[in-house]
Amino acid sequence: MPETLFNVKRLTDLAAAGQLKGKRVLIRADLNVPQDDTGKITEETRIRASMPAIQLCLDAGAAVMVTSHLGRPIEGQFKPEDSLAPVAHRIAELLNRKVALISGWVDGGFEVMPGELVLLENCRLNIGEKKNSEVLAKKIAALCDIYVNDAFGTAHRAEATTYGVAQFAPVACAGPLMAAELDALSRALANPKRPLVAIVAGSKVSSKLTILKSLASKVDQLIVGGGIANTFLLAKGLPIGKSLAEPALVQEARDIMAMMEKRGAHVPMPEDVVVANELSPLARANRVAANEVAADDMILDIGPKAAAKLSIMLANAGTIVWNGPLGVFEIDQFGGGTKMLAAAIAHSPAFSIAGGGDTLAAIAKYGIEKQVSYISTGGGAFLEFLEGKTLPAFAVLVERAKEVNTKK
Ligand code: 3PG
Repeated sequence: MPETLFNVKRLTDLAAAGQLKGKRVLIRADLNVPQDDTGKITEETRIRASMPAIQLCLDAGAAVMVTSHLGRPIEGQFKPEDSLAPVAHRIAELLNRKVALISGWVDGGFEVMPGELVLLENCRLNIGEKKNSEVLAKKIAALCDIYVNDAFGTAHRAEATTYGVAQFAPVACAGPLMAAELDALSRALANPKRPLVAIVAGSKVSSKLTILKSLASKVDQLIVGGGIANTFLLAKGLPIGKSLAEPALVQEARDIMAMMEKRGAHVPMPEDVVVANELSPLARANRVAANEVAADDMILDIGPKAAAKLSIMLANAGTIVWNGPLGVFEIDQFGGGTKMLAAAIAHSPAFSIAGGGDTLAAIAKYGIEKQVSYISTGGGAFLEFLEGKTLPAFAVLVERAKEVNTKK
């Protein structure tokens, strides 16, 4: 992502300049948290990560409105499970104050006093949200003096509350979470301390091909894992038995390796792997050399020798980008590689950034949350950034910042 994209107005600067007092501030947060069948929130990282922006605005004496999507409801058709009520309840607990949840809020007609906070019901219930309707975006923009986008997890979506409102609100800025995410990602990829090592793992090359190609042009070492690694082993002519792989993408894997080798970078191949003949918690795991995988074996993890070598690479890295566990870490006998690399990342002096669903589960399993320099709250947004794509909800804030500079 080009450096210029990082020139945005920041909420923290507005707060420091005393520009929030008495203002109507609308925060677009990403409070899209997982819930169980009873509606109980099962993981609240995104709520906690959204609190600093809210607290900053409340402390500054703003009249604070917060909205978010939850799931993918059908516009205009309210169902109780689409409600942000459990989120409002949790925010109220965290702030130890009442938080009203407002439905049908697009045309206004509700009151928020300075120093107060209201939550505006699931913005994806509003007709026109997904398609970024200009009419809707203008109405939402009219509710506020200052629009804050703090929803990094939704930055890859151009919707009325993430894009349109940023065009039409009197002031549009990035919240502290959005700014922190982009600062960390740009530190890792736009101007990284080298060597830059990326770990990209997952079941399919096809679902991460764009990321692999984009990173192949930037990183010094590209560590692959899971089914992705199996396709690379196949490309190297190694036996993979009945392991998950995509033979149709072997040429793509060869191209990536050739492209990297040309500029002195590498895709390190594991010298040993962990295999079993079934994927089950009861399966017997065997360690074998990577060139000795039998016809009925499935590769389910990297071996200890490979993990030890990669750990040294991570210990010597300047920057680490981590997306995806190396093996089937949910089953302990196939988690050794991920566990060892997690420990290596935790102890490495490198600036490390991690993101993407399974990665966070692995980080939690091995308890290294505090030792990763930055853990992204974005799923799709994090992946799209790694793909080298522009995140529209962020790009529009950059556009607004240019306009302000031109007017000066
Ligand atoms: C996410 O959970 O990744 C974000 O909240 C975006 O959700 P979406 O994929 O439904 O837009």
